Amino acid sequence: MATYSAPGKVFLFGEHAVVYGKPGIAMAIKPRVHVTVRKGRYPPSLKSPYLESCFHEFGVTGSLYINSQLPSSSGLGSSAAVTVATLSAINDEYGFEQTRDEIAQIAYGIEKRVQLGRASPTDTQVATYGGIVMMKNGVRRTLPPQDFQLVIGNTQISHSTAQLVEDVADFRRNHPAVAGSLIDSIETVTRQALFHLQDQECLGRYMDINHALLDALGVGHPMLTTLVTAARDAGAYGAKMTGAGGGGSMIALCPKREKKQVARAIDAAGGRSIVTSLDTEGVRKEQ
Ligand code: MEV
Repeated sequence: MATYSAPGKVFLFGEHAVVYGKPGIAMAIKPRVHVTVRKGRYPPSLKSPYLESCFHEFGVTGSLYINSQLPSSSGLGSSAAVTVATLSAINDEYGFEQTRDEIAQIAYGIEKRVQLGRASPTDTQVATYGGIVMMKNGVRRTLPPQDFQLVIGNTQISHSTAQLVEDVADFRRNHPAVAGSLIDSIETVTRQALFHLQDQECLGRYMDINHALLDALGVGHPMLTTLVTAARDAGAYGAKMTGAGGGGSMIALCPKREKKQVARAIDAAGGRSIVTSLDTEGVRKEQ
């Protein structure tokens, strides 16, 4: 029997633009997914295409148990965390000796296939390595850890990442100049954020701008804007949707002392809050 856990993730800056070769900044967060795999003669009964692919990839059978505090389809990287933890557990249980890099590669291949070819490796890299990372053209750069106090607001409106990425692609095909300049502006905000990682007030302002740009790109949702506004009014430095949008989750960067107040405001506005901070560890073996 082998048990592995992997962290969820939030995009701090640059989602969607990252699909077009622009930089994205993402951070691993505390709710982790735990997966236990046990050797067995029978194929597991699985409803998820991600999990089916994990077993298929290694050509093995066995049983699987998942314990996750990460809500699925909420923009918090749960499918990548489950995929990376499951592949790592199979790898260990069956003694395949794949490296972390190889696990990350296989996980990305699965995400890409399930999401119809439209996924950046951000989620799978963060689930594998943890920390704060900048991704560009599939290459990961680890950034120095920061004391970011975040409150997540889950709208509980599920979304399809593949569909939202497709919607942006359509918009870009039909309105290349407008979409192009919005994507370029997201890149500018992301690059400037890199220079101000230690200035949280400034980062908050950039998050507000990034939210507006994503809204303009067409991936907003009224509930996301309601939660973002509630968080800002309650004292957050700034707030934005995170991940694909169209529902899913938002994040608020907060002074430590305002976290509870921001979480209460998000709940009162109809979201489900999760108070979180950086998880520096990626996938790991559990006892
Ligand atoms: C989804 O969490 C983020 C997107 O940029 C897609 C991706 O990077 O795979 C929308």
